[in-house]
Amino acid sequence: MLVLGIESSCDDTAVAIVEDGRTVRASVISNQANLHAQYGGIVPEVACRAHYETIIPLIHQALDQAGVDLGQIDGIAVTNRPGLVGSLYVGLSAAKALAWALKKPLAAVDHIEAHIYANYMVHDNIEFPHVSVVVSGGHTDIFMSETPVKHSLIARTLDDAAGECFDKVAALLGIGYPGGPAIQMCSLGGNRDAINFPRGDGGPDGTQISFSGLKTAVLNDLKKRGFVHEASKNSGRALRPGTPDPKAFGETRTLNVRLPLADIAASFQEAACDIIVRATLASSRRARCRGVVLAGGVAANKRLREKLADACDANKKTGFFVPPLELCTDNAVMVAGMGFHQLRLGRADPLTVDVLPNKEEKQLKLKAAETVD
Ligand code: KG4
Ligand code: ZN
Repeated sequence: MLVLGIESSCDDTAVAIVEDGRTVRASVISNQANLHAQYGGIVPEVACRAHYETIIPLIHQALDQAGVDLGQIDGIAVTNRPGLVGSLYVGLSAAKALAWALKKPLAAVDHIEAHIYANYMVHDNIEFPHVSVVVSGGHTDIFMSETPVKHSLIARTLDDAAGECFDKVAALLGIGYPGGPAIQMCSLGGNRDAINFPRGDGGPDGTQISFSGLKTAVLNDLKKRGFVHEASKNSGRALRPGTPDPKAFGETRTLNVRLPLADIAASFQEAACDIIVRATLASSRRARCRGVVLAGGVAANKRLREKLADACDANKKTGFFVPPLELCTDNAVMVAGMGFHQLRLGRADPLTVDVLPNKEEKQLKLKAAETVD
């Protein structure tokens, strides 16, 4: 069964063609980071327009890459929740048009479930139930997963998402957007113990997640050093590993301050990873699960992968699973995989299906969320 997947929930337009939920026949992504870099974050209207311009050419590109024509596609999968409303509509409209014209079933996919599903596409030995940790630009959620479509919420960030925190700290440092890869690159050669940034206490059972204290601590540290960077004027240019690019600080450098950038980046990254690792282990204890699945854009972070793998190993040899880098950040392969699963369960969606942009609407869906105990 050939499923064509479409992803456009945020700032990546992606199309993939996947055979039988596993074999990737095509995967193409158009990343908008350059468009948004000058603003230091995603501008929804800019994202929506870029999806609109790219979606049709990307579908053609994916078909070419897979060497198939539209008539050979057996089903269409598309992210319809959660995400930016305009961006979601572009993907959903394209998917509906294809499903209608080809008279093929449509599967509307949850972006977060798709991130988790990326793991099932590449690992054969994941046992249920397990803990799923989704860390991305928009979400930091920990679930107990009983099946690929049944995830009960255990913990959720009280404020910023993990990726959002990386992006905001990178903006404070003036090192570019998206912040995660920039911070990882800057931290190379840095001393991760140089600054003891706060990690919070994890709340009564260790599952509490919060990144705002960490972000504020970085801001205060920079202020103490006399360094203030205006995020909005961030140049977004690429950096060489471990070396601050003086041009990246641009005209907004208020004082001639030499910043130990690698040490700050490494210390911040260490603290952010510690927060995620602590909440993961506590959630795994609470849900009495012996496996941890990591997903989402921040799962591409090398230090997080290392630390979580070590922590799981030390914790009674808890199994640890993470997708390859290209399936961590947004892509349509995971959407096609998830859609295949839904279609195989006989869960096609009607062409009247709508977008569900908000976490709140999704929370209603997860009504059993707080019942894990
Ligand atoms: O899953 P994703 O591509 O999009 C959302 O669904 O949000 O995640 C994007 C987020 C961004 O915040 C980006 O800074 C972060 O993932 N990210 C990373 C790394 N690569 C991407 N964060 C830390 N380290 C990385 N290597
Ligand atoms: Zn994502």
